[in-house]
Amino acid sequence: MSTMLQEKFAKGLEDVIAGTTTICSINPENEALIYRGYGAVELSEKAIFEEVIHLLIEGKLPKKRELKRVSRLLVQERKVSKDLIKVLRKIPSTASPMDVLRTSVSFMGTLDENRAFTIEETKQIAYSIIAKLPLALMSWYHLSRNKEVPKVNKKLTFGGRFLQLVTNKEPEAFEERVINASLILYAEHELNASTFCARVTASTLSDIYSAITSGIGTLKGSLHGGANEAAMELILKFSSPDDAERGIMDMLNRKEKIMGFGHRVYKKKDGRSDVMKKHSLQLAEKLGQKKLFDIAEKIEHIVKEKKGLFPNADFYSAVAYYLLNIPIPLYTPIFVLSRTAGWSAHIIEQLSDNRLIRPRAIYEGPPQRDVPAIERR
Ligand SMILES: CC(C)(COP(=O)(O)OP(=O)(O)OC[C@H]1O[C@@H](n2cnc3c(N)ncnc32)[C@H](O)[C@@H]1OP(=O)(O)O)[C@@H](O)C(=O)NCCC(=O)NCCS
Repeated sequence: MSTMLQEKFAKGLEDVIAGTTTICSINPENEALIYRGYGAVELSEKAIFEEVIHLLIEGKLPKKRELKRVSRLLVQERKVSKDLIKVLRKIPSTASPMDVLRTSVSFMGTLDENRAFTIEETKQIAYSIIAKLPLALMSWYHLSRNKEVPKVNKKLTFGGRFLQLVTNKEPEAFEERVINASLILYAEHELNASTFCARVTASTLSDIYSAITSGIGTLKGSLHGGANEAAMELILKFSSPDDAERGIMDMLNRKEKIMGFGHRVYKKKDGRSDVMKKHSLQLAEKLGQKKLFDIAEKIEHIVKEKKGLFPNADFYSAVAYYLLNIPIPLYTPIFVLSRTAGWSAHIIEQLSDNRLIRPRAIYEGPPQRDVPAIERR
């Protein structure tokens, strides 16, 4: 048995097939990211995030009236309960916003009296969680800093409302377009670590609250969603492109990882990065903050030249968020607001044809032995 297990083993499960899906694929020819047959990059140019939520959860792009329904639902369901606000008020301003989101979803689960959910009920909870997360996060953020939670213009899109919740100012159309594109590009990515975790949790017939809580905890790490914040902290260390060149060379010589670069699946490029690079350049030019973009681009060139690595979705998303005036600790949470749509689609897909996910491990410890008496250990 152990030889068979050895043959199937790959550290980090690299290239291991762990399931089938109709939600997302990566085109092997050009490494393009595809949601239910549609290119994510094209969706980011032609659709709003609400359409992509519908595409992922319902399996098809919405017609006009369906889009109206889902958009209305997300507005109606956005309010969070007084009980959740009480919990959020207890969390200090110094907490990790990712922990706040994880706690919020977990607490939402405690308020649901239902114990066993049908797939249809799971779907409705998914919409409700997606709708509530921005207000839960930003209520904690502002209240813990003794500020009022901004009122939002309900006519804005999901992304626009989120920006207004952050900055307390109605966003310009171009700003809304950037956050919308980012939400779409982050929404889904096959069996990445957090989605895998969410599916494993769902496969035990636990509920969607627990599965999304697992996903958030997994996304938090700097090798996954946390990379966008780490990338921004890095970019801000440098005062000029030349300074960045020196600093990055030093890091590479010390064999340090450059956050926001590389990918487990993509080998040539991450198409999402091009879109976010274009948006961050446009923002930088509009706002007269070209130096920041130039530093980022210099880092891109050096890492490419010296390591052959390309920026992933996180690198230029970070630059765009910075230019949109979003505080850095909220970058990974934006990933959660978006990826909850993908997690939900996977949880529903898992439940629709479920089998417990339970892999094996190769044992490398001592052989079986007798338990010695305590005085002889
Ligand atoms: C994404 C990531 C975790 C993929 O990891 P992986 O498939 O396990 O790849 P590895 O970490 O084994 O890296 C393979 C090689 O590339 C190097 N490498 C990979 N990403 C690197 C990076 N961002 N900076 C510098 N070197 C990197 C590794 O050091 C390793 O080199 P070696 O073979 O000389 O030891 C990895 O690229 C990474 O840590 N990137 C930075 C974090 C990040 O941006 N995460 C967001 C992903 S969307």
